[in-house]
Amino acid sequence: MTEQSGHIHSYYSPGDLYRKIVAGLETLGKDLATITLDDLQPVDEFHIRGDTATRELIELAGFSPDMHILDVGCGIGGSSRRLSRDTGCRVTGIDLSDEYIDTASRLTDLLKMQERVTFQACSALDLPFEDSAFDGIWSLQMNMNIEDKSGWLREIHRVLKPGGKAVLYEVCGSNNSPLVFPVPWAQDAAMSYLVTPERFRDAVVDAGFTVQVWTDKTGLARKAFANAKQPEGEPDLPALGVYLLVGNDIQLKAYNLRRNLEEDRVTLLEIVAVKADSDSP
Ligand SMILES: C[S@@+](CC[C@H](N)C(=O)[O-])C[C@H]1O[C@@H](n2cnc3c(N)ncnc32)[C@H](O)[C@@H]1O
Repeated sequence: MTEQSGHIHSYYSPGDLYRKIVAGLETLGKDLATITLDDLQPVDEFHIRGDTATRELIELAGFSPDMHILDVGCGIGGSSRRLSRDTGCRVTGIDLSDEYIDTASRLTDLLKMQERVTFQACSALDLPFEDSAFDGIWSLQMNMNIEDKSGWLREIHRVLKPGGKAVLYEVCGSNNSPLVFPVPWAQDAAMSYLVTPERFRDAVVDAGFTVQVWTDKTGLARKAFANAKQPEGEPDLPALGVYLLVGNDIQLKAYNLRRNLEEDRVTLLEIVAVKADSDSP
């Protein structure tokens, strides 16, 4: 692991994560034998607009039960499980964080979904899969931690079957910089690599994809964070929340994300990119 990816890996390695999630569920009076996807939502959908965005992306993707989808940068697997439950498809999730992957697998076992949804720790820049191994790619808010956008996009293009779709839900930069830190994906500037939407689109096309859908969701992101307040004093945290994944300063991170959105420093994009069919010229 390079120094840079080591820094990112430790940011996403909170320690004792599964036990903390189980403790949160118990505090909320949930019975582990009967927990549902909805019970886990406050902690396992770590992207802007959470489960609402996941459901919109599922609709957009149109994946079917016979498909095997790769979730790149899956976190603790919330949207992998939702995708599989709602469409019937098989999902493999990968993430840099061994602790997230361990937690993702154990939560999936609890939900008895392990036959359709599995996980593996590795880097998105070096995927341990054959060429054309997957029918679709699903990647929600992970490009921000990747400096080598072209390397990452070429790698997902490589493992996708010809004619397959990559569904990306990504944060990019905007007209103003630098960002105000910390933000939910980075404690400091050394782990955040945002490019403008134009540069991101060029990288998607250069990797060999055709852009089929390109929707700016920044307005909805602004609405979602409009009430994020600058924290004062000790944080008042719920039993279950994404602070378990990235630290108790989550309210400051949410407030800074609000500022970055309102001050035109970040954008949010929904993208469907297609790999050419082998028959295409
Ligand atoms: C903001 S979280 C999003 C997690 C998940 N997609 C979700 O929506 O809940 C970003 C994720 O990207 C992962 N990540 C960052 N760099 C990575 C890399 N080079 N390879 C694989 N995963 C990476 C992090 O470990 C983290 O789980």
